[in-house]
Amino acid sequence: MPEEFFAPISNQQTPPTYKFFDGKEWKDSTSGKTSDVISPIDASVVGKIQVVTTNEIDAVMEATYVTQRSWEATPLHQRVKIMHLAADWIRHFEEYLSSLLSREIGKTLEEAKSEIKRTADLTDYFADEVQSLRGETLDSDNFPGYDKGRIGIIERVAYGTVLAIAPFNYPVNLSASKIVSALLMGNSVVFKPPSQGAISGLHLARIFQKAGVPPGVIACVTGGGGEIGDYLVTHKRVDLITFTGSSDTGLAIAQKAGMIPLVFECGGNNPAVVMPDADMNLTAREIIKGAFSYAGQRCTAIKYVLGTKQTLEQLLGEVQKQMPEFVKMGDPRSPETKLVGPVISQDAATKIETAINDSIQAGATLVTGGKQNNSFIEPTILINVKPTMATVATEVFGPVVSFVAVSDMGQAVTIINESRFGLQASVFTKDEGAGIAFAKELNVGTVQINGSPQRGPDHFPFLGVKASGLGVQGVRYSLESMSRLRPIVLNKPQ
Ligand code: G3H
Repeated sequence: MPEEFFAPISNQQTPPTYKFFDGKEWKDSTSGKTSDVISPIDASVVGKIQVVTTNEIDAVMEATYVTQRSWEATPLHQRVKIMHLAADWIRHFEEYLSSLLSREIGKTLEEAKSEIKRTADLTDYFADEVQSLRGETLDSDNFPGYDKGRIGIIERVAYGTVLAIAPFNYPVNLSASKIVSALLMGNSVVFKPPSQGAISGLHLARIFQKAGVPPGVIACVTGGGGEIGDYLVTHKRVDLITFTGSSDTGLAIAQKAGMIPLVFECGGNNPAVVMPDADMNLTAREIIKGAFSYAGQRCTAIKYVLGTKQTLEQLLGEVQKQMPEFVKMGDPRSPETKLVGPVISQDAATKIETAINDSIQAGATLVTGGKQNNSFIEPTILINVKPTMATVATEVFGPVVSFVAVSDMGQAVTIINESRFGLQASVFTKDEGAGIAFAKELNVGTVQINGSPQRGPDHFPFLGVKASGLGVQGVRYSLESMSRLRPIVLNKPQ
């Protein structure tokens, strides 16, 4: 791929057409079909991406299959060096990638920059951490009935070809998190970026190529999930799928993929539980950040707040007081805009507005926001919401938070544990002991005490239960997820 790939975006008079990467070369698809990537900011075309064919997918799968063994045999210190170089290239292109991200997916410039910086740091951290992963040997005589006649040599090895499917909300960071962990463990990677976010994803693939990942070890195929998704997830050459996206898509993939390992991060409808003794100033700040960052399009966003009627009234006053300081909807490229740019598309905005109206019709009260304008949805607060209403029962991927009054904390536990989702929950209280005791009651991946839900720090384990995920991610955990144990037993009959 020529270096005009990284030509300043402002110099691009007509929207560029991006090639896909078959692992060796950047190509136009023989389908002759491209798909437009539309900016959610102003509906302009950011660029065109290839819609690859099933034959092209077969060729890519064959190439990654053939090269995987030699990649795994490459000394680890060389793979580590390549990843550190990739981190440096990501940093080198920080300005470029941030403005691309902001235009392609509508993140504020500040959020986009933070995604790029975080990706470079994560790549370095992965490359450092992998060096401390160890195999082990086991003695047989520990188990009753066995003498010393066997030694288990337990190695950690690659699965083979990893299919990495990334979401639109972190097209660089969540793609890199899958790709880097898979490559470091010796897998080859077929990377399917999100349709919206594909241009950022293609740039990331180019960076891995630039950093020295050998030909055939990583490929990047583009096209709509509806067009190539099923073919990819059922391909016989795929040994593991790592996916981030909605719970419905995750379930559909799991049903089709058959008996291969799956590492999924899916939807989260994360609650914040506010105890009567909570620090209302801090709680309001965290709820605002949790609900409205990247226009609520984070699987870790706060979607509903649980507390007694009196606590919620007090909290609402504090949230309304702080909103103007922290939230301002607008063009995400403007420094004036805070947290809320557009959502990913006009269609998505329409669905969000429908969910808000459904809740209102079912008896919820709109406190602020609620209106759609093209791809923009005003930051919205609803009160008098019940768990069965649309804005709590479904994952609304937008800047909407619902206040749900409970009679006591026991009812809050029931609501959370009966939810279809189980990614994270927050508990706000000045009594940390009570917070920990409450956390232990909740059937979710992670509980945050006095903080809003979030994936980072990225070396912490990150997982969802129920419809929110499969497997564990987070630096060491991702490396483990991307590899399997290979025991070799040396028998020495005595
Ligand atoms: O959207 C899913 C992401 O994993 C959330 O990451 O908590 O850093 O925003 P975040």
